[in-house]
Amino acid sequence: MSVHADLTSRAKARPEHPNSWIFFDGEFARYHDVRLGVMTHALHYGTGCFEGIRAYWNKREEQLYLLQAPAHYERLHDSAKILRMELPYSVEELIEITMALLKRNGYRTDTYVRPLLFKSVEQIGVQLHGLPDSFLVYTSPFGNYVEIEAGIRCMVSSWRRVSDGSLPARAKVTGAYINSALAKSEALENGYDEAIVLAHDGHVSEGSAENLFMLKDGVFVTPPVTDDILEGITRDLLIGVIRDELGLSVVERSIDRTELYTCNELFLCGTGAQISPVIEIDHRKVGDGTVGEFTQELQQIYFGAVRGENPKYKGWSLPVY
Ligand SMILES: Cc1ncc(COP(=O)(O)O)c(C=O)c1O
Repeated sequence: MSVHADLTSRAKARPEHPNSWIFFDGEFARYHDVRLGVMTHALHYGTGCFEGIRAYWNKREEQLYLLQAPAHYERLHDSAKILRMELPYSVEELIEITMALLKRNGYRTDTYVRPLLFKSVEQIGVQLHGLPDSFLVYTSPFGNYVEIEAGIRCMVSSWRRVSDGSLPARAKVTGAYINSALAKSEALENGYDEAIVLAHDGHVSEGSAENLFMLKDGVFVTPPVTDDILEGITRDLLIGVIRDELGLSVVERSIDRTELYTCNELFLCGTGAQISPVIEIDHRKVGDGTVGEFTQELQQIYFGAVRGENPKYKGWSLPVY
């Protein structure tokens, strides 16, 4: 391939807003002005950890609400600790940086925030400790990551979830997303919308990039944090909403694959996925094959809360402007 052709395809892969501001190693810079070397450690070895945060635009108030920033940055600190990386900012400083960046970019639409801590040293050789890290945050307008209205069709993946003894799922590690991508591609190429991944012992773990809840006999069940899940922030929020608003109990326990086949309602959740109802799994209808009644109610409460429309949940978010 000629260099010219290569540059053209790269230009196509560039984000919608190449002129947007990003935060990179202590400074604000334009996206297109930041360059990384081809030997960057994280590019070769997946040595990084990151977060995915949403900010929701409230049209009526002309306000952007940054959702659960402290929880995301606490989890980034935990991921960094597991990976022996240095995050040189406190949670409070990370929030300040993010707010300043969002203000600079001035988006008046739903926005995604991606903080990334990674081994930026240009060096061959695999290790975690003692190598310099870089930290960046970029923001981008962002709509739905998966379908949230009609319901999705899932398959149980032939790929198993990474396990705590080999690649800790509770850390949000860049390299671990190969596991998610294998499962997601397998699902999409087989005509499904999403994958549900089992842990090594055969229990249900989570979706490719979402946690999972099932409703069975009036009780919501979700896998415990010891079943190789990412300890989801949306999962935590929804456990509270299910208990407080729906008046139902939530049990954190291991789930067998075939329990998914006989449950009454099933949904995936996450910052990206929000609440995505599952209507079919491995060719079996979930309930009657339509979006469950409780799932719909949860969606209504959740979307009102994240958009800052419900005063009861104002504490979930920080207003940016
Ligand atoms: C593997 C995985 N599980 C679960 C989640 C949901 O986590 P959260 O609700 O914190 O976004 C995500 C989303 O980032 C994920 O990537």
